[in-house]
Amino acid sequence: MTSVAIVTGASSGIGAATARRLAAEGFHVLAAARRTDRLAALVAEIGAAGGSAAAVECDVTSAESVAGLAAAAAAAPGPVTLLVNNAGGARGLDPVESGSVGDWQWMYDVNVLGTLRVTQALLPALEASGAGTIVIVSSTAGHVVYEGGGGYSAAKHAQTAVAGTLRLELCGRPVRVIEIDPGMVKTDEFALVRFGGDADRADAVYAGVAEPLVAEDVADCVAWCATRPQHVNVDRLVVRPLAQAAQHKVHRAG
Ligand SMILES: NC(=O)c1ccc[n+]([C@@H]2O[C@H](COP(=O)([O-])OP(=O)(O)OC[C@H]3O[C@@H](n4cnc5c(N)ncnc54)[C@H](OP(=O)(O)O)[C@@H]3O)[C@@H](O)[C@H]2O)c1
Repeated sequence: MTSVAIVTGASSGIGAATARRLAAEGFHVLAAARRTDRLAALVAEIGAAGGSAAAVECDVTSAESVAGLAAAAAAAPGPVTLLVNNAGGARGLDPVESGSVGDWQWMYDVNVLGTLRVTQALLPALEASGAGTIVIVSSTAGHVVYEGGGGYSAAKHAQTAVAGTLRLELCGRPVRVIEIDPGMVKTDEFALVRFGGDADRADAVYAGVAEPLVAEDVADCVAWCATRPQHVNVDRLVVRPLAQAAQHKVHRAG
């Protein structure tokens, strides 16, 4: 039977690329996000390429919506073996001194509590498969701090803590927990969302960086980790572009 993979935040960027890649690897993919028009286009594209996928409208900040995702997973045509907690993002680049409480709440709710809600809802199905995998897409911001990154770093540090705690708690049960921490990834929307739609500020993030990571690079990491033999648990995979030696050390031309 075809294994089922669930990808949250599949309507753009890393999530969409991961859904495409996992379908190409032979999974039936449940692509979850709020924007159903984008999900429908993605599912059609996957189908045209010979893959199998379905769209599920899901807001990870809503327990009711996440319950709907779990119901869709229960009705899917195969065992649920893979959950990719990817939905998330950043809002703002303000110092702690003047950061918006609303932005911080949004980042915690989507990145951390979203991962918690979806993981709690899908864990029974993952465990019942006998060979489950939970991937958590956190960030290098889950390990270091930088000026203006307080809210996002705090949320990603928390997401990283969830991954580590869950791995300890599930030890002895048939579900592995993998954390993937990308550095700079040039996706269409991440920086735009961060800067409230300000394209100039968003473009400046990647200015002069010849080859930032792209969504497909991270999808490749997810697929590689998820397709290792089940006894192989890649605890944490940190991936950055060659030009980014550290958060504060980015080579920019010009
Ligand atoms: N880009 C980077 O440089 C980078 C680096 C390290 C880590 N990451 C992490 O990688 C993940 C994906 O980032 P990306 O660059 O692909 O960003 P993106 O293109 O902005 O994608 C974010 C995705 O999250 C979904 N999302 C947001 N709020 C949601 C909600 N309440 N419920 C369900 N889905 C929601 C969005 O879908 P809808 O709006 O349709 O719901 C979208 O599909 C995030 O967790 C991000 O923090 C990104």
